[in-house]
Amino acid sequence: MILRLCILVLTSLVLAGYEEVKPQPQNNYRGFDLVDKAGNIRRPADVRDHYQSLGTYVVLDPKGDQVHATYASPGTAENYRKTGKFADGTVLVKEVFGADHAQMTTGDVRWASGTKVWFVMIKDEKGRYSDNPLWGDGWGWALFKSDAPDKQVATDYKKDCLGCHIPARGTDWVYVQGYPVLAAK
Ligand code: HEC
Repeated sequence: MILRLCILVLTSLVLAGYEEVKPQPQNNYRGFDLVDKAGNIRRPADVRDHYQSLGTYVVLDPKGDQVHATYASPGTAENYRKTGKFADGTVLVKEVFGADHAQMTTGDVRWASGTKVWFVMIKDEKGRYSDNPLWGDGWGWALFKSDAPDKQVATDYKKDCLGCHIPARGTDWVYVQGYPVLAAK
């Protein structure tokens, strides 16, 4: 019995020590792993497993409500809180869902149902792909639709994206007001 107790105590001590030396979550700004030499952008496949949630916009529209959920590559929020900016290689993904609704015990509720498209932005501080019309103003810009999720369909970020992001120009084109995790804790 005493021996067993000793082993238990020892094991927990070893485990506690292990906890301490375990590496902290890495800041993996690996956006450029998704980009080929010409600047073509692939959709990140591990968003639901490894990305962090920044926040959600709900669009109420008589023609069909939408839920917009934005995710970022690991470490994005921590870095943003420290530096006030998105690190080179940061990936942002906005997943656009339809919405269902019902009266629930909390009230008149909407929730995400059925992915429609993914918008992707990759932070590029260095102006790497100046010949590619999907890169500029500090980002790579891309769009994927759920009926062909691996096919990038945007052609020119100035026509397809930028106009709508002008109100967010002062915050590096990102609508940060909807992302509480970017603000100080
Ligand atoms: C119709 C206007 C509109 C167009 C076109 C548009 N966006 Fe956005 N985008 C917004 C708005 C507004 C938000 C934040 C609020 C929301 O999602 O409803 C947003 C949010 C995003 C986000 C989440 C980060 C953020 O800025 O809040 C990404 C990523 C994004 N857009 C990428 C793109 C890309 C890439 C394109 C072009 C392929 C594009 N958008 C085209 C209006 C637009």
